[in-house]
Amino acid sequence: MSKQKLIAGNWKMNGSLVANEALVRAIAQGMGDADCTVAVCVPAAYLEQVNKLRAGTRLELGAQDVSRYEQGAYTGEISAGMLREFGVRYAIVGHSERRHYHGETDDTVAEKAKTALAHGITPIVCVGETLAEREAGNTQEVVKRQMAAVIHTNGHCISEVVVAYEPVWAIGTGKTATPEQAQEVHALLRAQLKAATTHSDRIHILYGGSMNAGNAQSLLAQPDIDGGLIGGASLKANDFLQIIQAGANRK
Ligand code: 13P
Repeated sequence: MSKQKLIAGNWKMNGSLVANEALVRAIAQGMGDADCTVAVCVPAAYLEQVNKLRAGTRLELGAQDVSRYEQGAYTGEISAGMLREFGVRYAIVGHSERRHYHGETDDTVAEKAKTALAHGITPIVCVGETLAEREAGNTQEVVKRQMAAVIHTNGHCISEVVVAYEPVWAIGTGKTATPEQAQEVHALLRAQLKAATTHSDRIHILYGGSMNAGNAQSLLAQPDIDGGLIGGASLKANDFLQIIQAGANRK
C-alpha cells in the first residue's frame, strides 16, 4: 500500500476570526477518518485560534514561514520555538511569494529548513520555476539548484523534510501543470533526494499550483506525487474536502 498522502492548505494572507472558525470546523468534521494527513498552514496571527479549534481532531497545524534565527533583535520575525508553543507541526519555507516579494534566497530557505528541523517542525520546502525559466528550458536546472541548497545545509536530516513542487506559473493562475509535467519534475526531485539519503522514499513530495477538486485525482495518482499544497481551493471547505477525499487511500 502506498504511503499516506499529505494534503496541506496554504491560506496565504486570508482569513478572519469568524471565517476561520467556520472553515476549520467544516474541514475537521468533513475529513472524518480519511486515510491521509491533513494540515492547514494559517497566518501567524491565527495560530492560537486554529490550534484551539482543531483540538481533539486529526487536523494538523502549519505556519507559512519561520525565522532562520533562534531569538533576539529580529523585528517582525517569529521563531521556530514560538511556533512549537502553538502546536505547529509544519512550516512552509521558501514559498515563491516569499522568494519573490521578500527576497528570500536559496541559502535563506535552506537555513530556515534547518532551524525548523532543530525544533521538531517539519519544513515544507517549496521549489519551482517561473514561466520565463520554463520557456527558456531551465526548469530542471532551477529546481535542482533550489533543492541542492537545502540538501547541502541539512545533510542526512533531509529525509525529514517535505518538498513541494510549485511551478510559479501555475500558482493562483488556474493553469495547472499536467500530471505528466508535474510527475516529470517530481521524479527528478526524487532522484536528487535519493542520491542524498537512503530514506528518500519516505519523503513526501507535494504538488502545488491551482490544484482543485477537479484535477486533484489525476495529479495525486502519479507515482511521485505524495500530496498537495493547496492555496485558493483550501479556503473553500467543500473544495478542500474533495481534494482530501482524492488523496485518501481507499480502505
Ligand atoms: P493556488 O492553489 O491558489 O494556485 O496556490 C498554490 C500555492 O501557492 C500553495 O502554496
